[in-house]
Amino acid sequence: MYKITLSEKDTPKKWYNLNADLPVEFPEYSQTDEGKQIENLPRIFSKGVLEQEVSTERWIEIPKEVRDIYQQIGRPSPLFRAKGLEQHLETPAKIFYKREDMSPTGSHKLNTALAQAYYAKNDGIERLTTETGAGQWGTALALACRLMGLDCLVYMVKVSFQQKPYRKTIIKLYDGEIIPSPSTTTDFGKKILAETPDHPGSLGVAISEAVEIALNDDKAYYSLGSVLNHVMLHQTIIGQEIKMQLDQIDATPDVMVGCIGGGSNFAGSTFPFIKDKLNDDLDCQFIAVEPSACPTVTQGDYKYDFGDTCGFTPLIKMYTLGHDYIAPSVHAGGLRYHGLSPQVSLLANEKIIEARTVHQKDVFESNKIFAQTEGVVPAPETGHAIKVGIDEAIKCRKTGEEKNIIINFSGHGLLDLQGYEDFLEGELED
Ligand SMILES: Cc1ncc(COP(=O)(O)O)c(C=O)c1O
Repeated sequence: MYKITLSEKDTPKKWYNLNADLPVEFPEYSQTDEGKQIENLPRIFSKGVLEQEVSTERWIEIPKEVRDIYQQIGRPSPLFRAKGLEQHLETPAKIFYKREDMSPTGSHKLNTALAQAYYAKNDGIERLTTETGAGQWGTALALACRLMGLDCLVYMVKVSFQQKPYRKTIIKLYDGEIIPSPSTTTDFGKKILAETPDHPGSLGVAISEAVEIALNDDKAYYSLGSVLNHVMLHQTIIGQEIKMQLDQIDATPDVMVGCIGGGSNFAGSTFPFIKDKLNDDLDCQFIAVEPSACPTVTQGDYKYDFGDTCGFTPLIKMYTLGHDYIAPSVHAGGLRYHGLSPQVSLLANEKIIEARTVHQKDVFESNKIFAQTEGVVPAPETGHAIKVGIDEAIKCRKTGEEKNIIINFSGHGLLDLQGYEDFLEGELED
């Protein structure tokens, strides 16, 4: 069997909240003495997501309208067995990959975009502002806003805007507005450009610009594509589906791998299984993979820091490279983020999950193997998980272990072709 599917009626009815099961207390958000970062939250986030952000309820009902749209966009997504890759690697391991790339916008990001747009609409809001790195999140939010009847304004990190010009076309097709960041449309953008006119942009800067706009417009909210608890929560439909799919073949995972930018696809695919691990019902290794250009867990500190560069967001306890860190311009734009979800950070700090770092060239090398054996072109971000999935399968070839390795295939790379072109021409930097 190559493809394990579920029917529409199997679409999860609830999101799973890890905060109900954490082994240590979740570190509350904090603010600076002079700042009003926490008081400002209700000005930029919906009531629905703010409730979820601090909830300790284990299961949170998915509103019917959101579940319906999940089905409209093709959920549940299939789980594929990568038999072509297994044969190529001559491994006894079984490799599975969860197809989040099959959503209309090409990644997992729509799972939370739809929920966030729904709650904003419920509060009578007219538009959402956001940042985007590689463009997957901006595209997803633009579509979610269109489906919910909201306007959408996207600040796209300038270097990614230049690397991935067709993201702009899709966002405009959904009637979204897109501006390369840093820009002259915000005070913070102007300040950054005055200091560094050729600034490549970063997610931290783009977040600050999007938040600044939302703070100054009472008909707008800001929407974040990763990091915060409510985003991890919405993504847990991925892991719940994988569970049902593995149940069909009486399998459990031995290794689960996901790439980490802010942490949401890793969280979404693993949290329902981490719940079992915390209850001693599952023995599984969870590996979060980050780029060597932005080694947040492996080289960052676990401490309170801002989620953005300017300091508009609350202080969050997380692994961080510092809120003014600007990562080199690698093609995995969605992983160029200085921080990480506080939930995923806590799990890493408690050694419940482990983090690994991989280099850009190795990622493109394994993406080429994946494309040639499975046919699917991975997003550069997703390639980080594939590289480590392949490493683990090669270990099994040496030990003879028949492990079940699950890779969360967070998105396709069909709009990331400049990176592939550079790779094929031997011009890719490491
Ligand atoms: C395809 C893809 N995978 C992964 C990520 C990283 O985000 P997260 O860690 O929140 O899943 C992104 C972010 O843009 C992405 O586009």
